[in-house]
Amino acid sequence: MSRQTRYITSPIYYVNAKPHIGHAYTNILCDTFSRYYRFLGEKTFFITGTDEHGAKMEKTAKEKNMDPKAYADLISPTFKELWRLLGIRYDYFIRTTDDYHKQVVCNILKRLEAKGDIYPSSYTGWYCVPCETFWTKLQLIDGKCPECRREVQELSEDNYFFRLSKYQDWLIQYIEDHPAFIRPDFRRNEILSFLKQPLEDLCITRSKKRLSWGIEYPNSKDHVVYVWFDALINYLSGIGYTTDEKKFETYWPADIQLIGKDILRHHAIYWPIMLKACDVEPPVVILAHGWWTVSGAKMSKTAGNVVDPLELVKIYGVDAFRYFLLREVTVGHDGAFSEELLKERYTSDLANDLGNLWFRFASMLGKYFHGTIPKVPVKIMGSKLMQETFLTWDRVRESMECYDPREALSAIFRVITLANQYVEEQKPWVLAKDKKQNEKLAQVLVILGECLAHLAVLLQSFLPDSSKKILDRLKITGMEIIPHKEDFEKRMIRTDTGIERGEVLFPRLDEKKTD
Ligand code: MSP
Repeated sequence: MSRQTRYITSPIYYVNAKPHIGHAYTNILCDTFSRYYRFLGEKTFFITGTDEHGAKMEKTAKEKNMDPKAYADLISPTFKELWRLLGIRYDYFIRTTDDYHKQVVCNILKRLEAKGDIYPSSYTGWYCVPCETFWTKLQLIDGKCPECRREVQELSEDNYFFRLSKYQDWLIQYIEDHPAFIRPDFRRNEILSFLKQPLEDLCITRSKKRLSWGIEYPNSKDHVVYVWFDALINYLSGIGYTTDEKKFETYWPADIQLIGKDILRHHAIYWPIMLKACDVEPPVVILAHGWWTVSGAKMSKTAGNVVDPLELVKIYGVDAFRYFLLREVTVGHDGAFSEELLKERYTSDLANDLGNLWFRFASMLGKYFHGTIPKVPVKIMGSKLMQETFLTWDRVRESMECYDPREALSAIFRVITLANQYVEEQKPWVLAKDKKQNEKLAQVLVILGECLAHLAVLLQSFLPDSSKKILDRLKITGMEIIPHKEDFEKRMIRTDTGIERGEVLFPRLDEKKTD
């Protein structure tokens, strides 16, 4: 059943390091889905933001000799700037240091306490003094701190616990009854098998003696809220839970909560249980993507293999960067990042296929018809190319329904290949030599123009800049929202105004300026 509204969330990003392509990937996926839903005419709300509390953040700020809030104020805008440069059109940017968010966290804690789902108890863990972090026994490596490999000491402190265990059976049943709740399927199985062991209750506070950078626990001046408990609530506070019920009811439940596989347990276990305890419905889908690795390792500041998205965008452009990430891997799987592969995709798919198709069409139209689409009778659906183009709308829809933008793009690019083949077969340059073939030549160019218009419309969610360029050059407007396939089964291409050839869409890499 199609819904009128859509709510899409990205994880909120830690501000203790600069954004890299892993972060960019999550938000490019969110943006692609949001653009696609908007295209279908659905009222869509896409929220992203920054996760600003916790030990790591406090430590990083200390190293920089800064107050954590001042440090967050400095880094949080770098994410906004990256999203701007990547054409990420979010609707709201949340920061967990915002007052209203803190208020919602406190409202939820009070509610859960009143229900008896939170209780005080003693927490025992292994504490690493230099890292100022508690670890569980399982996290230790050879009995030492997994981060710095130094000695740890066993410590106990009074804390507050959330009764995860109470909801374990409910969660298992929910996941079993809703096969599409955790995607892809292999992640769902992973969670179900994890849930075979008894769940421990979650320690949701930290003693201020060790960590002061967090939301103060409503009932105790000695504790702050555990950063994950605080962070997950952003998905509710950002749309007005307990502060703007009308807005909240408009958007909740979230349609897609995009995450990386490393934060699956937080989202597929803690999160639905927190919601259940608050009597709030779970999201429709938790969609976990894989990791981008560089030379076999996950990209991270510690590994020193971070790829800066801005550097790549400067060289290849936003659309090429988006295209590579969306096209190279199926959502859920890991991807090996290499600039060589990006260059290959750029050259073969974008420059040689899409860019060249536009260039050939626009140049021939300029040469043979002074850049204006000729008025000739054409049976659009009589051409195989256009039949395939129309079928692609359904293929894109089906792929997006299965959360598979890679397949959607591959369907679109199949048509680009067919369109280039059509040019080769029809040989407009031969038709142009024979006056009697003028009508045929005009028909071929109308069909190509029509096909390009469809391709540009279909590409809007994936390659927004290039799609806009093509539509602008064709002087086609009003294609931003197309709820039903029937709405576009009319000719798009205009015969009353000329088209512009414009600059090459994807210049050869050796001709591109890299500064
Ligand atoms: N702050 C938490 C999320 C809280 S959500 C309530 C967090 N932040 S993060 O900045 O470390 O990561 C944010 C997202 O980036 C995660 O989805 C993570 O999987 C993704 N990526 C970080 N490195 C990545 C790769 N190398 N590859 C792909 N995505 C990865 O976790």
